[in-house]
Amino acid sequence: MTALTNDLIKLTADAERNADRDGRFRQKLHLMPPAGWLNDPNGLCQFKGIYHAFFQYSPFNAEGGVKMWGHYTSHDMIQWEYQGVMLYPDQPFDCSGVYSGCAFIENGTMYLYYTGNVKLEDSDNYDYINSGRESNTVLVTSTDGAYFGRKRLLMKNSDYPADLTLHVRDPKVWKEDGTYYMLQGARTKEDVGQAVIFRSEDRIHWTLYSRVETKKKFGYMWECPDYFEVDGVKILSASVQGLEGDEWKDRNVYQSGYFTVEGDILGEYSLSDYRLWDYGFDYYAPQSFDTEDGRRIQIGWMGMPDCKEYTNRTVEDGWQHCFTFPREVFVKDGIVRQRPVRELEERKILLEETKNILKTKKCTVYEAVVSNISDDQFHAVLAEGLTAEYENNRFKIEFKNDKVSCGRKCRFAEMDHVTEVRILSDESSAEIFVNDGEYVFSTRYYPEEPGICIEAEGAEIRLYEISE
Ligand code: FRU
Repeated sequence: MTALTNDLIKLTADAERNADRDGRFRQKLHLMPPAGWLNDPNGLCQFKGIYHAFFQYSPFNAEGGVKMWGHYTSHDMIQWEYQGVMLYPDQPFDCSGVYSGCAFIENGTMYLYYTGNVKLEDSDNYDYINSGRESNTVLVTSTDGAYFGRKRLLMKNSDYPADLTLHVRDPKVWKEDGTYYMLQGARTKEDVGQAVIFRSEDRIHWTLYSRVETKKKFGYMWECPDYFEVDGVKILSASVQGLEGDEWKDRNVYQSGYFTVEGDILGEYSLSDYRLWDYGFDYYAPQSFDTEDGRRIQIGWMGMPDCKEYTNRTVEDGWQHCFTFPREVFVKDGIVRQRPVRELEERKILLEETKNILKTKKCTVYEAVVSNISDDQFHAVLAEGLTAEYENNRFKIEFKNDKVSCGRKCRFAEMDHVTEVRILSDESSAEIFVNDGEYVFSTRYYPEEPGICIEAEGAEIRLYEISE
């Protein structure tokens, strides 16, 4: 252990000891940082029965700073236990941040691949796109999920294609027909976003295999790419920067969505149009993994980078951001959908079952399920001013109260009908699943008074409290 590691351990412990543990807006169901800042989920996996969620963590500053990997574990994806920081930025190849990456499980070993970020000092001479930074691919392993061995530098920028900028990061590894493949997000020197695939026979030595891109340029950078198959559908997920034009005008600064893949991503393939994972304000850099019982779970960062439009009220309390609630990704009627993991069902206590209208001030942490909606009639108000409604072929969420929204205004998705809505609300977030998870809207919000009012003439409405 280096002297730097020692100091970082001590400073992190101090920051966590001094963190406010009972402040307002602290989440009950959603993973948040023990102190300071959280962004992307990393290294998600189920290993020897236990769920592991690592996260991009800056404990010293609620507005971000040097990144390390914090670590949570769980038996059920509902109750999580904080395990401390697992990876500190303490080596020459990751000294400006242990950036995002994945877990790959094989033969009783957890392989964590991540990007070691290095940012050189001299902003007058560097543009930090083609000069002044390094993106290193690094591996650490563990056989117990608690102790991680020595960091091993696997690839540097000179190992990546020469037409790429220095922005190459966020490895995601999988195995196919006995060979290992690694996807990384990239920005070319022509400012085209794409994913690069490397291959390996031993998980350690990697060579360039191919590039994945759209026919027409689609953004300038793809972050946190992910590739998986669910219910027979192949999905390439990417968080894309630089989308412009009418279609993106009323949307978030960066997008997070997926292409379905026809053919073989390792050979001849074609990509569908890009579809957003989530139509709300706060959703980015999702990552997925397989559970031991065969489900595909996805967790996203319930936040948005470089977002000037809105802020989070928790910064004043010394922390910022959280993860989404874990979601099962599934395909029904040919449509990719998401729903909260089924483990939630065991925590639900029915509070009210009614028709047409529900109005209560009883709880902040709840799930409201509105089913058999007739004639597309749906209107809801959460707390003091987050409305969710369907009108003129558009489902939209809109804030009517700036104190609750902190600058957020309106997000929407076009759809022909609304038949079913599920609202999962925590102390300072709402995730709204529409039409059996075909569309999701996630947002942070800051209610001072709890409350929900749902009007859906003819529909059945059930309200559940969620026990801790
Ligand atoms: C996405 C991202 C990743 C990077 C990490 C750094 O939010 O920018 O590309 O690895 O965050 O925290």
